[in-house]
Amino acid sequence: MKPTFASRTQGMGTSIFSEISMLARKHDAVNLGQGFPDYDTPDFMKQSAIEAIVQGKNQYAIGSGERILRHAIARHSEHWYGLSFDPDDEITVTSGATEALFCSLLAIINPGDEVIVFQPYYDSYCPAIRMAGGIPIAVTLHAPYFSFNPMELAQAFSPKTKAIIINTPHNPTGTVFSLQELQFIAELCNEYHTIAICDEVYEHCVYDGITHVPMQKLASMTDKTVRISSMGKTFTATGWKIGWAIGSAEFQKALRSIHQFVVFASATPFQYAAAAGLSADDTLYREFALDLQKKRDYLFSVLEQYGLQPQKPAGSYFILCDISGVTTLPSTMFAKKLITELGVAAIPPETFYHTPEIGNRLLRFCFCKQDDTLHKAAERLSQLSTIL
Ligand SMILES: Cc1ncc(COP(=O)(O)O)c(C=O)c1O
Repeated sequence: MKPTFASRTQGMGTSIFSEISMLARKHDAVNLGQGFPDYDTPDFMKQSAIEAIVQGKNQYAIGSGERILRHAIARHSEHWYGLSFDPDDEITVTSGATEALFCSLLAIINPGDEVIVFQPYYDSYCPAIRMAGGIPIAVTLHAPYFSFNPMELAQAFSPKTKAIIINTPHNPTGTVFSLQELQFIAELCNEYHTIAICDEVYEHCVYDGITHVPMQKLASMTDKTVRISSMGKTFTATGWKIGWAIGSAEFQKALRSIHQFVVFASATPFQYAAAAGLSADDTLYREFALDLQKKRDYLFSVLEQYGLQPQKPAGSYFILCDISGVTTLPSTMFAKKLITELGVAAIPPETFYHTPEIGNRLLRFCFCKQDDTLHKAAERLSQLSTIL
């Protein structure tokens, strides 16, 4: 008899990122699909990882994270947001933000609990909620500004709402929630005793002088929030998979009880390199955001020029376009056409929606790419009218 596998694996399929990247490779397309840079990690961080390896930091790390990194995370939190957390009891290092999200959900959710997510959402949220036995409830961020309707959000809350995932700056819309929006969400969380799981991996990717405000800043939410981030986006090191979760000691106890049996500990040498990165001068963070802002502006003007109706993002490193002006095809088909006939890859975000129809006029372009890559994409997009 053939072995059978768990029902939870059914319906998960292959992620749209793998599908698009495979097609992009086959057609030698300029890949503006998957969200990682095609330029390298800063030298001082690479050096720090090498030194850690040479110095013998190659065995299991402390389960909650190496002391040097937990302290660096605490200093970063204090410096950028004025939020003080105890590095011993209130910070845990994880294998990327993805593991922090997964373990947080397993630590918070009981079967049948509801978790509110804003759609479009980062693709790991709903599978992770379901694996924890929870039920994802989607609230739409409406085009063109990708903000939520307060009434719709209020209606999504109920006594069953155990948690809400708040991703700001937001992938894929580029929305950065304002203080007023966070206050509105906080009132609902307080009314329904809901925990806010905040995914802030793009915390330093904010543009035009806009400031990122963590939900944890709101006094009524400090002990009801877990703030998750990672070094992948800020330090151009997505492959190192070092992340963290910041929240109350009670929450950390629950999180660590799960984390110990998922990975036990995260890669030791990269924790030292992450500590070096987080301790960098403010200039590094500012130049990083300014550089990305230039890339955003360039790609935005290209997409606008060829009728793809981009929405300018305030944060993250993605631009969502409305393709209605150039095609009647749904975005998945149009994305495949762009790859095969023009050689440019972008992500159709239908799978980031509970209701895919909402996303089938949208296409996500990633701008954290070398200027040469963006120029090459622009050159190819200049031929867009020839394939329509
Ligand atoms: C919103 C969001 N959260 C989390 C992650 C994953 O972060 P990490 O690589 O640190 O697991 C990503 C990566 O694209 C993301 O866009």
